[in-house]
Amino acid sequence: MKNKILLVLSSLLIFFSSCANEDQNAQLVLSTPVANPAKEISDNGFRAKWNYVSKAPTYLLDVSTSPAFTDFVPNYNAKVISDLNDLVTGLMGGTQYYYRVRAQSDDLIISEYSNVISVITTGTNNIAEDPTFLKVKVNKLANPFFVGMAVKANQLDSGSPYDVILKNEFSSISAEYEMKMDQISTASGVYNWTVADKIVAYGNSNGINVHGHALVWHNSVPTWLANYAGTDAAFALEVKKYITDVVTHYKGKVRSWDVVNEAVEADGTMRNTIFLKRMGANYVNDCFKWARAAAVAAADSQLLLFYNDYATSDNIDKQNAAYTIIDGLVASKLIDGVGFQMHNTIFTPSKAQIESDINRAVAKGLKIHISELDMQVNPGNAPANLTATFTNELRLAQKEKYKEIVKIYNALPAANKYALTVWGMKDNESWIPFSTDLNHPGNDWPLLYDASFGLKSAHTGFLQGLD
Ligand code: G3I
Repeated sequence: MKNKILLVLSSLLIFFSSCANEDQNAQLVLSTPVANPAKEISDNGFRAKWNYVSKAPTYLLDVSTSPAFTDFVPNYNAKVISDLNDLVTGLMGGTQYYYRVRAQSDDLIISEYSNVISVITTGTNNIAEDPTFLKVKVNKLANPFFVGMAVKANQLDSGSPYDVILKNEFSSISAEYEMKMDQISTASGVYNWTVADKIVAYGNSNGINVHGHALVWHNSVPTWLANYAGTDAAFALEVKKYITDVVTHYKGKVRSWDVVNEAVEADGTMRNTIFLKRMGANYVNDCFKWARAAAVAAADSQLLLFYNDYATSDNIDKQNAAYTIIDGLVASKLIDGVGFQMHNTIFTPSKAQIESDINRAVAKGLKIHISELDMQVNPGNAPANLTATFTNELRLAQKEKYKEIVKIYNALPAANKYALTVWGMKDNESWIPFSTDLNHPGNDWPLLYDASFGLKSAHTGFLQGLD
């Protein structure tokens, strides 16, 4: 009996000590806390919040301006907090911050990091945007490229704010519309060069590269050609004559031309333009052939010929169709580069989509022109969802997306770099807020300068993309 009692007692002892060990072991692992969206966001702070973790009397809070927490806001590097929230103070207005927490036990055992919460303080940080001139920073790179701007002739008078900014910041220009066929060609063989000449002369006399945009585009067909009554063969000869005369007129003055603009549809078919209808499926090749022949005849051996299109990065059908055209031109040795318009939004296309699209042209040894860059913050073609305010969230998201695309471009091999062109200077003069297709009545801010020529965070993002 005595032995039995001893046995029971020793079993109980073993049982309790093993329970104690389990408790100890359990303390070795703390659940990971879940951080919640910030509350009470103000110009100089916010309340960070997170969920309770069992056996964690304290939490360690990190706050940073970097999503990777490469640095910390002073006093917020593992700040010890014995509550499930903390009022973070002393921050700058209009600035993006990130926070995360870890749980900590009495035994100083620390959990994994929580998820990261992003929060943007209200107001403004009163910090001026980086005033470094774009082309100055680009020209210091090991492999520089042209920084382009779309221009209109009436901006180019000496001393205008556009003129000053262009000379300081940009090393290439594209005419936003005044070098298109409907502007230059008034009748068969009759040309109005005045406005286009002004743009080209501005570039030439100021050491600014001139990119020609665009010889053939379905949206800039002059009325006389749209209504052309002659045969299809005669129509093709008119197009050939136009291309030849324009390339010849600007020999040695325009370094590159978009020969054909936007020849494919979103569904991957050839766009059913007047050129396709009247000249047949080989019309793109024909136009390049005529442009090259004109350049050769004019002894303009440096002229670069581009195919230019939009929205190919996030539409694989359209992308494949564009590359079918490009492959044909490569096979005929008629093309030097591809223009990726990049009328993008702060959401799309993704970095990976842009890279894989552009890299297909890089692999063919072609020059890359990001040819019409702008960044909508109000996409969606749904006026009801539009925001009427350019909020700090949108401003900073746009800055990041500009930075991303500049980084992508800058990382290209030197031989493939040509130009990165922004499609307009000031938000209020961009085509985007006024496009009936995009349907953003008046509400978008897609460019690098505000309506008063003030530098936007997008401009700082562009500069940061060069780091
Ligand atoms: O035609 C008259 C012209 O003779 C007159 O001097 C002028 C006075 O404002 O009005 C004229 O029309 C111009 C029109 O193009 C003619 O083509 C408009 O003002 C002008 O704003 C206009 O829009 C341009 C559009 O292309 C059509 O050419 C936009 O400024 C330009 O941003 C836009 O750019 C296109 C690219 O070329 C190709 N990719 C898409 C991009 C956006 O649509």
